[in-house]
Amino acid sequence: MEKETLVRPSLLSADFNHLGDAIEEALSLGITNIHYDVMDGTFVDAISFGEPVFKRVNLIYGNQITFDVHLMTVNPLKQVNQFAALGCKEICFHFETLTLGDIPKIKEVRDRYPNIKIGLAFSPETEVDELKNLFNFFDFILVMSVIPGKAGQKFITGSEKKIAQLNEYRKTFGLDFKIGVDGGINDVTGPLCVENGVDWLVAGSYYFNATNKKVALNSLHKAKVIK
Ligand code: DX5
Ligand code: ZN
Repeated sequence: MEKETLVRPSLLSADFNHLGDAIEEALSLGITNIHYDVMDGTFVDAISFGEPVFKRVNLIYGNQITFDVHLMTVNPLKQVNQFAALGCKEICFHFETLTLGDIPKIKEVRDRYPNIKIGLAFSPETEVDELKNLFNFFDFILVMSVIPGKAGQKFITGSEKKIAQLNEYRKTFGLDFKIGVDGGINDVTGPLCVENGVDWLVAGSYYFNATNKKVALNSLHKAKVIK
């Protein structure tokens, strides 16, 4: 598989009147993944978009770009099935929504969809140590560096330490989950996360508000990658 890009624009900050144009521009800039934020109005206050919009964009662009679905919903395991049926290749849900009884269900989901990358997102109030028994079940971990629910917030200082901790953890135990970060990424916080071992950066407002997206992307690439 072709190498994935470091930056994943979050469609939540795109101009919804011109979603197709936004995706095509990202494609023209060589972007391989687009972040797709699903908000249910309960896990977070806002409601964004869900399966119908995903169905449409994935049908048109899904063979050129991977939409990584970030479920900010209270009943994510139900929605995983719905997105999987629409051809979703990458999806994550929140640690904070899970109960002990969900662990066998996560295993079932993994067995049912062996080709879908499944990730675990966690909110700022959650510590890395709380997740450590779950790393084996997931292809990636998404560090939320803002309180989930809206774009354009400030990066919470210290989130980079969670990335470093996860990176240390996977090295020590020989695990191969990837690490993403989501929220408040800009030309300062993006490189900081890369220096701490992140594999990809979700960038919403910084990318979509940039007058020159190529320059914005380059500014996110300026850190040395450490693994
Ligand atoms: C926040 C969403 C993010 C958001 C990022 O709840 O999960 O993906 O779109 O937007 P920025 O980059 O503007 O913080
Ligand atoms: Zn997100």
